[in-house]
Amino acid sequence: MIETSPRQIDILVLGGGGREHALCWKLRQSPLVGRLLCAPGNAGIAAVAECVSLAIADPAAVVAFARNHDIGLVVIGPEGPLVAGVADALRAAGMAVFGPSAAAAQLEGSKGFTKDLCARVGIPTAAFRRFASGDEARAYVAAHPLPVVVKADGLAAGKGVTVAATHAEALAALDDLPGPVVIEQCMTGPEASLFVLTDGRTIAPWTSAQDYKRVHDGDAGPNTGGMGAISPAPVLTDALRDQAIAEIIKPTLAAMAEAGTPFAGVLYAGLMLTPDGPRLIEYNVRFGDPETQALMLRLESDLAEILLACAEQRLHEVAASWSPQVAVTVVMAANGYPGVPETGSVIAGTAAAEATGARVFHAGTKRNAAGDLVANAGRVLAVTASGSDSGAARAAAYAGVDRIDWPGGFCRRDIGQ
Ligand code: AMP
Ligand code: GLY
Repeated sequence: MIETSPRQIDILVLGGGGREHALCWKLRQSPLVGRLLCAPGNAGIAAVAECVSLAIADPAAVVAFARNHDIGLVVIGPEGPLVAGVADALRAAGMAVFGPSAAAAQLEGSKGFTKDLCARVGIPTAAFRRFASGDEARAYVAAHPLPVVVKADGLAAGKGVTVAATHAEALAALDDLPGPVVIEQCMTGPEASLFVLTDGRTIAPWTSAQDYKRVHDGDAGPNTGGMGAISPAPVLTDALRDQAIAEIIKPTLAAMAEAGTPFAGVLYAGLMLTPDGPRLIEYNVRFGDPETQALMLRLESDLAEILLACAEQRLHEVAASWSPQVAVTVVMAANGYPGVPETGSVIAGTAAAEATGARVFHAGTKRNAAGDLVANAGRVLAVTASGSDSGAARAAAYAGVDRIDWPGGFCRRDIGQ
């Protein structure tokens, strides 16, 4: 009998955060994947992929690298390369890429763009006004009922938003924002993140997560890129999810297609579950970080097969199946985050943490000259575990966290509560 070997492809992942470690960890489990490369990667990713140096937001550089290395699929992690047109350049060169075009990435790249789209097609979201500069917004903000939300229009790594309880706070926020701004009505209710894959034709709702954005326990302190997550989001019932897909996701994707800029990739909707139903807070055009770390622990299907099918507009051929278990991820950040983080501190205990059954995904880590694992950015580790319910998942994640010996870092103690 003749054995036919399965088609294998080499994959390049762009990014070097905890999200990319989780994606690489999952991709590495696929029999479809030959070589797995990651640019720039980090000390944890180096255990499952070959880390390479590459200007990941330079479209021509990424195309040249992918060609030279005969890459069969490029998976783009962060928003920067998407907004810079890396996916467009790869598609134009005939290569398979998971991630939207620059035009479609405006859903994340410009809050004003998204708010205008919502207004045009009637998507439920906070009332808003756009201004070309902070100066132009001052009079409007001073007269706006409180609380009021002040946002940078462009990319701000999750830190461009101020929910101001006083006019003085709102005006101070404007002082810190250099470019165009969006001023919004403040909505109230629990939040949930919903992830939907689409190839521009098929819409495949994935699963949900809840992100913990504030730096301190009890949702105190400034916003961060995310200090932890739980998946699925306990507050998002199936009925609310279906309502959000019908009233928010589908009209958005239809409007993007109508405008000649169809969206393909993962659309991440930040939702607020208000007394009047789900409302859109914002879109991201990529996987969430740290939500992805929790999602990948629950995904039972072959990630490479799904992302390749999405890139090749065959998403209808595959389905994602999810473990009914709950997953919790706890971010450990370097002291000083979300301000200027103290880097270079030595981290020990990751192997002991993994021996508990938790997974330690790396974000800002590297090896120093002595070979020690050291902090290299604000968010450093994402310790992730699953359990039969949120309590069990929480306990398992913190059992891992408690084995990490790192005086230079901190974490929230209430993720998943
Ligand atoms: P964003 O970067 O737009 O997701 O905003 C970060 C966080 O700010 C959100 O997760 C919310 O907690 C909060 N936020 C943003 N917009 C609003 C709004 N219009 N009303 C209330 N809270 C908001
Ligand atoms: N965790 C929030 C984000 O990925 O934008």
